[in-house]
Order: sequence, then C-alpha cells, then structure tokens
Amino acid sequence: MRSSKPTWVRKKALLKINGIETFYGNIRALKGISLDVPEGSIVTLLGANGAGKTTTLKTISGITPAATGTIEFMGQRIDRIAPEKIVRLGISHVPEGREVFKDLTVMENLKMGAYTRKDQHEITVSLQTVYAHYPILRERRNQLAGTLSGGEQQMLAIGRALMSRPKLLLLDEPPWDWRRNSSKRFFASSRISIGTRASPYCSLSKTPTKP
Ligand SMILES: Nc1ncnc2c1ncn2[C@@H]1O[C@H](COP(=O)(O)OP(=O)(O)OP(=O)(O)O)[C@@H](O)[C@H]1O
Ligand SMILES: [Mg+2]
Repeated sequence: MRSSKPTWVRKKALLKINGIETFYGNIRALKGISLDVPEGSIVTLLGANGAGKTTTLKTISGITPAATGTIEFMGQRIDRIAPEKIVRLGISHVPEGREVFKDLTVMENLKMGAYTRKDQHEITVSLQTVYAHYPILRERRNQLAGTLSGGEQQMLAIGRALMSRPKLLLLDEPPWDWRRNSSKRFFASSRISIGTRASPYCSLSKTPTKP
C-alpha cells in the first residue's frame, strides 16, 4: 500500500504517520505510508483486498511494528512502544471480525475494555453510555457473548473498545454506515475514528464531528 498526505489536512494532527514500512517476513505489506489524521475527524482508508489497510491499523496499534518510518500520537512517538502502552495512551483498535470473549457475559466483556482504568464511578458512566447507544447490550448484559448474533457481537466489540475511553478509535471494516448522524454524534466523544473498507461505496473522506 502506498499513499501521499491528503491535501485537506488543515487542523492539528492527532496522529501523524510518516513513511512507514511494515513487513511480514520478506513480504513488504506497507511501502512508505504517510497520513495525518486531524483531531475531531472521521477518516476512511480505502484500498483493494490485500492493499494493506488492516496492516496499517495493526502498525498504529503496535501489533505489527513498522520496520521504518515514524508514528506520532498527540506529539509523542509511538512506533517503538508495546501495544498495551499504546492502549493506555488512548488508542483503541476493533479488529476485523468479531473478537469478543465468547465465554464471558456481555457486561464482563465491556468491563474488560476498561482494564486500563481505575476510576470505578467513571467506568459505570461509560458503561451506561455504551448501553444508551446499543440498548440491546443492556438487555442482554447477562448473556454469554458467544450466543449473541453476529451484529450484536460487532456492537459489543465496539462497545468494549469504547470502554477504554479512547481518543482515537481504529475500526477495521466497521459494520455500520458511519455517516448516520447517530453514529457521528456518538463517535464525536472519541474525537476521531479511522475505519477501513475495501468496498467502493465509501470514498476517502473527512467528516467533521460536532461534540
Ligand atoms: N500474517 C501475515 N503473514 C504474511 N502476509 C500477510 C499477513 N497478514 C497480511 N499479509 C499480507 O499483507 C498484505 C496486506 O494485507 P492486509 O490484511 O493489510 O490487507 P487489507 O487491505 O486489509 O485487505 P482486505 O481488504 O482483504 O482486508 C497482503 O498481501 C497480505 O497477504
Ligand atoms: Mg483488512
């Protein structure tokens, strides 16, 4: 995957990616990606199957570290630090597919998402916020996650990511239409999101979000 910096970037960048290259063994999956993500924006990465969208997100979250290039988040270099520290800095990643803890209940899954936090009262507030956006999760809070429908598991995966109160949310192949107003309002609290889609109906776009 190759890229050049988008020309619409005007606001202060929350995330700055500069010339990253990521390898799987001898396979160079990312060939010098550069991207600025402004605060308060929703940015979509577009590309064909195998272009490197998932690898870009995994490189940001430290799962597949870049061999070269730099990544800055809120002015701090994050390209050489461990994934769990990256989560603590405020980046949450919802991987492609539904990766929930199937043998835990809905509520237990959501609480797992807050493992980096100690503020019990605020955790309860976040839980209520997630339930308000996805009422079905409140209704099913004592149900094992593995018995939820596919779409419900997607909601749970996103809800769990939000429980860490991210400043940047990385969504790989998000299941919903993020242009819906309710989604925009909801994700405004996370300031920005990056979603990826291989499908052609989304274009590279920036959508201002109002808090
Ligand atoms: N674990 C791995 N080992 C070896 N090669 C990999 C691995 N994961 C991904 N790749 C390769 O890296 C390239 C980029 O893959 P990636 O999953 O980032 O693409 P993508 O843009 O997300 O594709 P899709 O739209 O199909 O999800 C592909 O050529 C893929 O085969
Ligand atoms: Mg992918």
